[in-house]
Amino acid sequence: MRPLRLQLAAVVAEAFEAEGLDRSYGEVVVSARPDLGQFQCNGALPAAKAAKQNPRALAEAVAARLSSTPAFREVSVAGPGFLNLSATDQVLAAHARATAADDRLGVEPAPQPQRVVVDYGGPNVAKPMHVGHLRAAIIGESIKRLARFLGHPVVGDVHLGDWGLQMGMVVAELARRQPDLPYFDAASAGPYPAEAPVTAAELGELYPTASQRAKEDPAFAEAARLATFELQQGRPGYRALWQHLVAVSVAELKADYGRLAVTFDLWLGESDAEPRIPPLIARLQAEGVARESDGAWIVEVAEPEDTRVIPPLLLLKSDGAALYGTTDLATLEQRIEELRAELVLYVVDKRQADHFLQVFRAARRTGVVPPEVGLEHVGFGTMNGTDGKPFKTREGGVMRLRDLLDLVTDKARERLEEAGVARDYPSAEKEEIARLVGVATLKFADLSNHRTKDYVFDLDRFSAFEGRTGPYLLYTAVRIRSILRKAAAVGLSPGPFVPPTSDAERNLLLTVARLPDVLTGAWAARTPNVLCDYAYDLATAFSRFYQDHHILSEPDPDRRASWLSLCQLTARPLVLVLDLLGIEVPERM
Ligand code: ARG
Repeated sequence: MRPLRLQLAAVVAEAFEAEGLDRSYGEVVVSARPDLGQFQCNGALPAAKAAKQNPRALAEAVAARLSSTPAFREVSVAGPGFLNLSATDQVLAAHARATAADDRLGVEPAPQPQRVVVDYGGPNVAKPMHVGHLRAAIIGESIKRLARFLGHPVVGDVHLGDWGLQMGMVVAELARRQPDLPYFDAASAGPYPAEAPVTAAELGELYPTASQRAKEDPAFAEAARLATFELQQGRPGYRALWQHLVAVSVAELKADYGRLAVTFDLWLGESDAEPRIPPLIARLQAEGVARESDGAWIVEVAEPEDTRVIPPLLLLKSDGAALYGTTDLATLEQRIEELRAELVLYVVDKRQADHFLQVFRAARRTGVVPPEVGLEHVGFGTMNGTDGKPFKTREGGVMRLRDLLDLVTDKARERLEEAGVARDYPSAEKEEIARLVGVATLKFADLSNHRTKDYVFDLDRFSAFEGRTGPYLLYTAVRIRSILRKAAAVGLSPGPFVPPTSDAERNLLLTVARLPDVLTGAWAARTPNVLCDYAYDLATAFSRFYQDHHILSEPDPDRRASWLSLCQLTARPLVLVLDLLGIEVPERM
C-alpha cells in the first residue's frame, strides 16, 4: 500500500500536470507548521521559476484544482507560493483502515534488498566488557533489526577481539603465575586438559594486572609480545589455552548480551580471518600493492585530495605479527567471499574513524572489496556520567556492563515500587518487569541521542515514568493494551474506522501514518534516534487523544468501536518501533 504522504503527493502531481508542469513538483512533506496544514508542497516556487511564471499565481491555480478533489479538506497558499494542505477526514479514516489491515502497517519492504553485515559489539576476550562496548551493542542491534524489518537479508557479527596483544598478555601473565601448566611446555604438542585453567572472574582480573605489569616491566612486555606472536604462529599449547580463554569469555558475553536482548547471528572473531592473512599478504606483496618499510609491510592509503596526512595501513610488523587493520582487511575478504556482503556496517566508537578510513581505502586499493560494495563506519560518541566524564563506577573505576545492568534494574525496581506499579503481581513477574524497564531505561537513553553525540547518562532522569524516557513508552504501550482488555471485559470490541472529528484524533492518525517515512529515514542515515523521536510522538499523540476522548463511556457505538480500533492501531507501530530499538514491552505493568 502507498504511504499517505505519497498518496497525497500523487494528487498534487496530477494538479501540477494539469497546469502543464512536471509531476515532480508535486512533492509533499509533513508540514513544519501544523497550525497551517497537515502537509505542505513547496513545488510551485521552482515550477514557476522553470516556467517563468509568477509563483504565487501558479500556486493559486494548483490550489484551486486541489480544492475540488476529494483528497483535501483545506488548501491554502502562504507567502510567495507555499501550498498548505490538509487531507479530508474520509481520507484519514480510509488510510487507517488500510494500515490496520496490513501486516506491515503500510511499510513496503525495500525495493532493492541488500545483503548487509552489521559488525557490532566488538568485545575483547579476556577484557571485561565495559560501557564503551555497550553503545556498540545497543546501536548495532537496533540498526540490524531495522534493516531486517525493511527486508534486507542481514547478519550481525560480534567480531570478537580474540587475536590481539591482550591475548599474549594473558598468556604471559598466566605463564608467570603457573609456569607448570601443560600449556607452557614448549616441547609438548598436547593433549591438553579439557577443563579451563581459569574461571571468568580470574580471567577478568588477569588482563588488567598483566597490562599494568607490561607498563612497568619491559621484560614482561617483551614476553607478552612474543606470546602473541607465537600464538598467532600456532604454538599448540598457546592455542589450546587460548581456546579455553575464548570459551570462558564467550559464555560470559552471551549472558550479558542476553540480559540486554542483543543477539548475534555470527560469533566470529578476529582470529577467524587468520587463515586468510598469509595468502592475502603474499598476493599483495606479489602485486606490489604492499610495500616494505623498515622491515614492516604497509599499504599506502593517502589520496591526493587529502588535507591531512593519512598514514598507511600497517599489514605486518617487522616481527611478522599481524595487526588490527590486517585482520579487518582479511575479515572483509571473508565477508565478501563467504557472506556475499553488499554492505558492511561497522558500529564502532567514532574515535576509530581513522582506522576505518585506512581499512576501507586499503580494501578498495587492494581489490579486496569491489567498488559496488558499501563500507561504512557507523561511529558513535561517548556515554558520560553527570560529571561530564566517561561513565564510571562510584569508586571511579571503569563500569562493567554487568554492573550497569544491575544498576538500571535496581533503579527500575525502586521506581516501580514508588509508583505502585505491578504491586500485587507474583514476584517473578515483578522481577521480569524490573528487568525490562531497566533495559528500556538504558537503551532509550542511549538511542535517543544522535549516535555521533556524546551524551550524559542521568539515571534519575532516564528512569522516570514521565517525559522522553524508555519507561514512559513502555507504560504507554502497556496502558493501551490494558484499555483494550478492559473494553473486551465489558463486551466492547473494535470496529470499522469512522472519520475523525477532533484535532487530537487527526493528529494521532497522521502520526501513525508517518511510520513508513520514519523507518526509511532512520535506515538511510543509520540513526535510531529517529525511531525514538517517533515513538515519543506517537505516545504523546495517544495520551492527548485519550485525555480528550472517553472511549469506554462514549455513547455512539460506531465512534466507540472506531476509537478502540485506533487504540489497536496505535499500539502496533509503538510496539514495532520499540522492538526495532531492541526494547521489549511487558504484557502488563
Ligand atoms: N574489539 C574492538 C575494540 O574493542 C572493536 C572491534 C570493532 N570491529 C572491527 N571490525 N574492527 O575496540
